[in-house]
Amino acid sequence: MCGIVAYVGNKSAAALLIEGLKRLEYRGYDSAGLAVVRGQDQGIALCRSVGRVSVLEARYAKDAAIYEGQLGVAHTRWATHGKVTEENAHPHIGATRSGHTVALVHNGTIENYATLRKYLEGRGHQFYGQSDTEVLAKLVAELYEPQKNIDLERAVQLALQEVTGAYAIAVICDREAHTLICARKGSPLTIGLADNAYVVASDQSAIVAHTTQVIHLNDYQVARLCAGPSDHGSNEPWSIDFRTTTIDNVTVEQQVTELELDLQQIELAGYPHYMLKEIMEQPEALRTSMTGRLDLREGRVVLGGLTNMSRDLARARKFIITGQGTAYHAALIGEYLMEEMARIPCECEYASEFRYRNPVIEEGTFVVAVSQSGETSDTLEALREARERGAVSLGVVNVVGSTMSRETDAGVYLRVGPEIGVASTKAFLGQLAVLTMMALYVGRRRHLSQQTIGELLTELAAIPDKISQVLKQSEKIQACVEKVVDRNNWLFLGRGYNYPVALEGALKLKELSYIHAEGMPAAEMKHGPIALIDEGMPVVFIATQGNQYDKVISNIEEVKARGGRIIAVATEGDQHIERYCEGDFIFRVPHAAEPLQPLLTTVPLQLLAYHAALQRGHDVDKPRNLAKSVTVE
Ligand code: F6R
Repeated sequence: MCGIVAYVGNKSAAALLIEGLKRLEYRGYDSAGLAVVRGQDQGIALCRSVGRVSVLEARYAKDAAIYEGQLGVAHTRWATHGKVTEENAHPHIGATRSGHTVALVHNGTIENYATLRKYLEGRGHQFYGQSDTEVLAKLVAELYEPQKNIDLERAVQLALQEVTGAYAIAVICDREAHTLICARKGSPLTIGLADNAYVVASDQSAIVAHTTQVIHLNDYQVARLCAGPSDHGSNEPWSIDFRTTTIDNVTVEQQVTELELDLQQIELAGYPHYMLKEIMEQPEALRTSMTGRLDLREGRVVLGGLTNMSRDLARARKFIITGQGTAYHAALIGEYLMEEMARIPCECEYASEFRYRNPVIEEGTFVVAVSQSGETSDTLEALREARERGAVSLGVVNVVGSTMSRETDAGVYLRVGPEIGVASTKAFLGQLAVLTMMALYVGRRRHLSQQTIGELLTELAAIPDKISQVLKQSEKIQACVEKVVDRNNWLFLGRGYNYPVALEGALKLKELSYIHAEGMPAAEMKHGPIALIDEGMPVVFIATQGNQYDKVISNIEEVKARGGRIIAVATEGDQHIERYCEGDFIFRVPHAAEPLQPLLTTVPLQLLAYHAALQRGHDVDKPRNLAKSVTVE
């Protein structure tokens, strides 16, 4: 949600910033901009535009020489305060009393911006837009007084002491041509230590092309990054140095860590879209996720991240699994898994609800945060709330080094590789695989027999190959979609483990193709939504063989009797289902134990949403109004 990239070093900044923005564009794409310091006291060159990074790039390319400089900040926006206009695009500018200019990019929200704006207007600052970030740029400029030893670093510290809200910022000033200041609270920010340069970005994908050595800033920390020509007498022509402090100017030591990401993982590799790439790489992603974790010989699950608390887990009294969006759907399946396999009471709740409703946390409660990014603001705050109340916190997170992974007591990484497509696909399957392994891990320590767990592990290990079989139906799904893509209302229905799959199928369809879709338990339809069904309305049933198969068939009958058009996800070899829908409208999945079925039944629904979005002419990797990693409330 908003992408920041900043650079200080011995290369030209602008082209490098644009390259970084392209990698971060999935975080927001309403508008984009960059600012470059043209040299000591040479002013700042600013370029901003509404729309995608490509629009900014074209504008920059027309006058590239203006943007020559080795220090700059850039931003791709997902609008919160203020409309999508050029004035509200970042970077934002502030004028200092000494006649210099400050430029600032920001990810987050400044909650007390109205009060600060009033104060700054009283001090003579003229505002050109409505963005909360503009207030911050002007506040830094207002506080900047080098003649009183308040340099850019100090001005940023002082400004942040006045701010409530969330921020990751990068700030430059034309009086300090080799200094980049950045800071964070609540929104992610990573600093890359490259050769003779620092590259700062909202996430690792914009850093990995330059370096794998990084520092993760923590909340309320400020980094001062300097890179410039060495003093006379030095053997090195260029010198770099950094320091980090709190916003109260207390020095903090930083640990440099190594990124577990390589450039290849974030390239399209011949696919037309990241989403399709990520759907297609699910078999391999799950294999990687499970590698070394399934001990088939001994019939046990090995989760290194939980080893230190395995005894506590076995004695757990309650689990609360939380997340948002797709991660919430995974959490719902996690609830079923945990209760069935570990026989421990488990609740699943939207993180955004949990954090504000005074939940009861008793002794022995474990709170599990499920998140691809590990940065989602609602989930992070729910986690903090739960810890504050004494819960043990666990993370089921994909991004290594993310805030959640650092703030939880323990956890298990998804290990499915970076997910760039805004709509979550492979991370969802990764979350299911990890939650399944966690449930088996705890269950084995309580009552699951070696034989039962052995059988489930063998089935789990076979899932990646079964997903490959499902993926072969992509063209068939495309053909089916062609016949119904003009319909504007859809239902997705399932029972048991496939009920959250119905929710996920509906979410994928609506967020990508902008078709209105609702997911619900199949039985719930009769309690109201059945009124929606009219001639030809597409109703997708997850109708795999299992305990509730007959009940699902009854629900299918009810829809069919009212003229609905059935699309079924059904088990291979099930001929009975053919009575209710045309052959083209049945997507097959191989047989699997019920708790593992979502790992298969989700896949045709991902492809369905993908093809529907394409056929409706939408950008599947950048659906309108959305951004990956929602770091605001
Ligand atoms: C939907 C989607 C979102 C995310 C949600 C949580 O396709 O991607 O619903 O699942 O915003 O994000 P994470 O998992 O990063 O916490």
